[in-house]
Amino acid sequence: MKTKELWAKNMLGNYALPGVTITRGCGSYAWDDEGKRYLDFSSGIAVLSLGHCHPVWTDRLKNQLGTLTHCSNIFMNENAPRAAERIVRHMGGGRVFFCNSGAEANEAMLKLARLHGNAKAGGEEEKIYKVVCCENAFHGRLFGTMAVTPQEKIQHGFRPLAPGAVCARINDIESFKAAIDDETAAVILECVQGESGLTVAEPEFLKELRALCDEKNVLMLCDEIQCGIGRTGTLFAFEQAGIVPDAFSMAKGLGGGFPIGAMWCKETCADYFHPGSHGTTFGGNPLATAAALAVFDIIAEEKLLDNVNALAPAWREGLKKLVDDCPGILKEVRGTGFMSGLMLTEAPAPWIAKLREAGLLCVGAGNNVIRLLPPLTANKYEFQECLEILRKVFAR
Ligand SMILES: Cc1ncc(COP(=O)(O)O)c(C=O)c1O
Repeated sequence: MKTKELWAKNMLGNYALPGVTITRGCGSYAWDDEGKRYLDFSSGIAVLSLGHCHPVWTDRLKNQLGTLTHCSNIFMNENAPRAAERIVRHMGGGRVFFCNSGAEANEAMLKLARLHGNAKAGGEEEKIYKVVCCENAFHGRLFGTMAVTPQEKIQHGFRPLAPGAVCARINDIESFKAAIDDETAAVILECVQGESGLTVAEPEFLKELRALCDEKNVLMLCDEIQCGIGRTGTLFAFEQAGIVPDAFSMAKGLGGGFPIGAMWCKETCADYFHPGSHGTTFGGNPLATAAALAVFDIIAEEKLLDNVNALAPAWREGLKKLVDDCPGILKEVRGTGFMSGLMLTEAPAPWIAKLREAGLLCVGAGNNVIRLLPPLTANKYEFQECLEILRKVFAR
């Protein structure tokens, strides 16, 4: 049976039936089962920070595969503390918890919020437990994260949700002031909203929110799952506002294509956790943390943050010119750095299909945005090619 038929017959119907089977990838390119080549600026939804099958990353994983893949957290492995140390060193302190996905990393932050609330309430549970999130946020599809993802399409059918989620608006500090009360334990937000259409949190807003959280003794939790690991030109997006959250989550680009999630938290809240209070069997396994270590090494060795900062401005200029030239269909350039996109005047799905036909893979976001998420390794010729394909499709 063909892959498509096997998929349709055996896979749970929770994803729309994909139109293409990807069989191979190399750098910024992917090939389908008919041998057609695509410029892959979907990066597996912001996962492939180093592109497909980076040779150094691949070698490091192959070596680890033949050495040790799993031993659980009842034993130490050599890679997890080294990967954690990279994050701690970058942050100048704090602690790291490893898990397997973005939603799991956010669940750890939500549990941290509960523990902070309990500490604030003098050790009592259920008194201080609310978490303020943003309208249009996306933090995942598990029960905690779904509650702080206030979108009908995500929550429909799954109520009752975890209690305590309250809504405010990104870049509207007054809405956060109104939403925070005596029962609030934390606020959670993406510095660049990914799934809902690439809205960037303004640095001034983030600074004000940081000050508000300090004043109210509320944890500031940043979701860096999509905007972290170099995608916006700094290792973490919040760095551009000069603030440090109390905790943040990572996943996607952290493993460069191997599943891993993580939460970093400040030393001051790390003590809320003790043996038995949280855990996951696969978290921090030697294979996943070998992938993260390889990602950190390659980002540093190949100066990939410099690559993002050098190439993003001209690419975004090119996107802006395209918007000016196609006013009927293109409205504006969204996002920042290598997390950019185009807002359309209509639904993006048919355009994403046309772009795919023309050889460019990209992802939809919200109701009217096309996300372009090139790997951090992308070069100027690939950006040129991207702009040419976009122009061919939109200026037709
Ligand atoms: C900002 C953000 N948070 C959380 C998640 C959930 O991550 P995962 O799909 O790995 O559970 C995503 C996934 O798209 C995301 O973009």
